[in-house]
Amino acid sequence: MAFTHHHLLIFALCILYVESADPSAQICNQNSNTTTSEITKNIDAVLTTLVKTASESGYSATSSGSDQARIFGLAQCRGDVPSEECSSCIQTAAKEIKTMCPDRVDARIWYEYCLIRYNTENFFGQVDTYGVIYANVENVTDPKTFNSALGALMDRINTKASAPGNKGIAKDKTKLSDFETLYALSQCTRDLSQLSCRQCLAIAVGNNFPNFCGNKKGCRVIYSSCYVRYELYPFYFPLDGQKLALESSLKKNYISVVKKP
Ligand SMILES: *[C@@H]1O[C@H](CO)[C@@H](O)[C@H](O)[C@H]1NC(C)=O
Ligand SMILES: *[C@@H]1O[C@H](CO)[C@@H](O)[C@H](O)[C@H]1NC(C)=O
Repeated sequence: MAFTHHHLLIFALCILYVESADPSAQICNQNSNTTTSEITKNIDAVLTTLVKTASESGYSATSSGSDQARIFGLAQCRGDVPSEECSSCIQTAAKEIKTMCPDRVDARIWYEYCLIRYNTENFFGQVDTYGVIYANVENVTDPKTFNSALGALMDRINTKASAPGNKGIAKDKTKLSDFETLYALSQCTRDLSQLSCRQCLAIAVGNNFPNFCGNKKGCRVIYSSCYVRYELYPFYFPLDGQKLALESSLKKNYISVVKKP
């Protein structure tokens, strides 16, 4: 008995480690301009500010430099994530994004708990649907019931996420049966207006849920300016105790596709 428990704990820790160490997605835009030493200096300055500010408050948008060398940067944690996890995610992301594409001015990196992006173009406030979609390989058993519950849940949280005072995030769950609960979370980057947030979430759901995510047990749409995810297990904080171990490995059970804007 003790052995089994010990084993389970190690297993859970491994999954957590993999989840936090591996980015969910990264885009080094090869169509963007190449850096100069001045731009590199500004990227460094922006990342330093983002790490400092977003580690504390969960969100930061800033710029550094001037004219063609000016860099705009944004960092944000998923709104339900505790500050310690947020801070460590931001630090990892900042380190990783710098080595990821040293020569390009448009870079974006997403982890489950946070994202960082920078660009020479001012992207603040713009709906940007460049990103990656992950769908669980398994299908639901009762698509009709599932899709109607999912539709209602997404409507509810998307309205809430884009409402004033909610910092662009909403999460909720709905019971499908005595044995199954559906969990969902949606979030916009906090530079978006309410209208743009609603627009981004509507595109994320409308363009992907009927096809790539269709009838799948779980799906996440990771866009540059918004995020939606649903699962048949709890994945947002506060987590329901030991159910954390059920979090399945992203790369193993999910298929992904890159969405260009
Ligand atoms: C590249 O730089 C030029 C001038 O410096 C600018 O006009 C152009 O919009 C930039 N292109 C991209 C993709 O950033
Ligand atoms: C899920 O459903 C799709 C479409 O009906 C089918 O092609 C696919 O093989 C199914 N996947 C699994 C794992 O059963």
